[in-house]
Amino acid sequence: MLTTATRTLARPAAIRRFALAAGGARSQHTLPDLPYAYNALEPYIAEDIMKLHHQKHHQAYVTGLNAAEEAYAKTQSPKERIKLQPALKFNGGGHINHTLFWKNLAPANAGGGQLSSGPLKSAIEESFGSVDAFKKKMSATTAAIQGSGWGWLGYNPETKKLEIVTTPNQDPLLSHVPIIGIDIWEHAFYLQYKNVKADYLSAIWNVINWKEAEQRFTEAAK
Ligand SMILES: [Fe+2]
Repeated sequence: MLTTATRTLARPAAIRRFALAAGGARSQHTLPDLPYAYNALEPYIAEDIMKLHHQKHHQAYVTGLNAAEEAYAKTQSPKERIKLQPALKFNGGGHINHTLFWKNLAPANAGGGQLSSGPLKSAIEESFGSVDAFKKKMSATTAAIQGSGWGWLGYNPETKKLEIVTTPNQDPLLSHVPIIGIDIWEHAFYLQYKNVKADYLSAIWNVINWKEAEQRFTEAAK
């Protein structure tokens, strides 16, 4: 039978580092700064929504993910690890999705809403007929999500095409490379748009960061 010391030495280095760090030294996930001021997306997305969304909602996913990862590092059995999967998925997805969402938006006076001619515009026109037709379809598909979730313009690496897809809850987009994501949780719009999802989904196009979207598309399509 192995002694405790021998067992420790026999574990792969990466696992040992992870377990050792779980005591507190492991670097934790942190809330990223917004790349613009809280009121910079007005009048399309109100300052109070942005503050709550970033400081409270996104922070809660970061806190939840750190807690779930710390608990995971202390688990002793597959059953304990399986039990933590929902928390990892929900909080990890929430952190990934919101980190992408902030970068996915830009103030209207700093390029937000402006899609210039280039590879992304051409690919959208090829897949959807026109940029307006794409926006209409993406808004309608996102509005039709039952409950909370995300609408995505994603790049399908299998077909090499742009496609509109949705994910429920905070599930991150795994089947496609995310190009644009729209948060359709009520916390993203309710304070300003109440129950009228269509108005939020119409307004958000004025602050979509198309430059960021094009970078993601170019990278994905390489
Ligand atoms: Fe959100």
